[in-house]
Amino acid sequence: MRDEKSDSQFVEWSSGIHPDDYDVSEVAAFLNKQNGEKLNGLDVGGGIGSYAKALASRCNRSVAITVVDPGKLVQEKFLESDDLNLVSQDFLEFNTDSKFDFIILKTVLHHMIGADEQSTTANQVDVLKKAKSLLKEDGLIVVEENYFDGWFNSDLPARLIFFLTRQKLIERLVRWLGANTAGEGVRFRSTLSWERIFRDLGLKTVHEQTSPTWGSGGNYIYWQLQRLLLMCTRKYQSIRILKKATQVEN
Ligand SMILES: C[S@@+](CC[C@H](N)C(=O)[O-])C[C@H]1O[C@@H](n2cnc3c(N)ncnc32)[C@H](O)[C@@H]1O
Repeated sequence: MRDEKSDSQFVEWSSGIHPDDYDVSEVAAFLNKQNGEKLNGLDVGGGIGSYAKALASRCNRSVAITVVDPGKLVQEKFLESDDLNLVSQDFLEFNTDSKFDFIILKTVLHHMIGADEQSTTANQVDVLKKAKSLLKEDGLIVVEENYFDGWFNSDLPARLIFFLTRQKLIERLVRWLGANTAGEGVRFRSTLSWERIFRDLGLKTVHEQTSPTWGSGGNYIYWQLQRLLLMCTRKYQSIRILKKATQVEN
C-alpha cells in the first residue's frame, strides 16, 4: 500500500511543472491552432491540477479544463483557478453531455491496473475508447507516457516491470529501486505496443515530442544496470498528440 507521503507525491506529480516545460509548451502550441473562441478541455487523472493550470496559462484564448480524478487528497489540495474545475470520480464512471476540444492523459494510462494482464489492457483500451467518444470531431488526445523498448522492439521490459511492481514479497526492494507503484503494479508499454492500440482504436499520431531529459541516462551506471536487468534497448518519455484517424485522412 502507498503511504501518505508517496500518495501526496502521486497526486502532486506535476507540482513543480513550469509553463516552458516541453509537455506544456508543445501541447499549448497545438491547442492555440485549434478552432473556437473558447477551448473546452478534460484532464483525466490530472491530480491537483498543476499541469492543467500551467497549460491554461500558455493558451492564447480562454480555456476551461475539467480535471477528473478520484484521489482523496486531490479534493483537499486542488488548486484554485478560474480555468479549472474538479470532478472527483473514476474516469470510467464519469458521465457528461459535453464534447471536448482536447483530452489530456498525462502519466496516467500506465496506472490503469486490473487483476491481470488481460484486464489491465482492457482498462487502458477502455479509457482511450471513452476519451475518443468524448472528443469533438477535430479534437486532440494528448498522451504522455514512458516507453520501454526491448530487443527487436519487444514489449518484454515493460511486461517485466509490470510483473516486478506487482509482487508483494519484494515490494520494499522494488520501491527502494525507485518504483513508487511497488506492490500495486504499473503497466508501461513499448512504442510498438502503444502504437498498435492507438491504431486499432482509430487514433492517429499527428505530433510527438520526446522529453529532452527523461530516461537520457543522467546516472549512467544506474541506467546501464537497469537496461541489462530489464533487457531494454531504449527508454524515453514523450508527449504524443493524436486525432481521430478519420479526421487526419480526410
Ligand atoms: C501519476 S499521477 C499523475 C497526475 C497528473 N496527470 C500529473 O501528471 O501531475 C496519476 C493520477 O491518476 C489518477 N487516477 C488513477 N486512476 C484513475 C481513474 N480511474 N480515473 C481518473 N483518475 C485516475 C490518480 O488519482 C492520480 O492523481
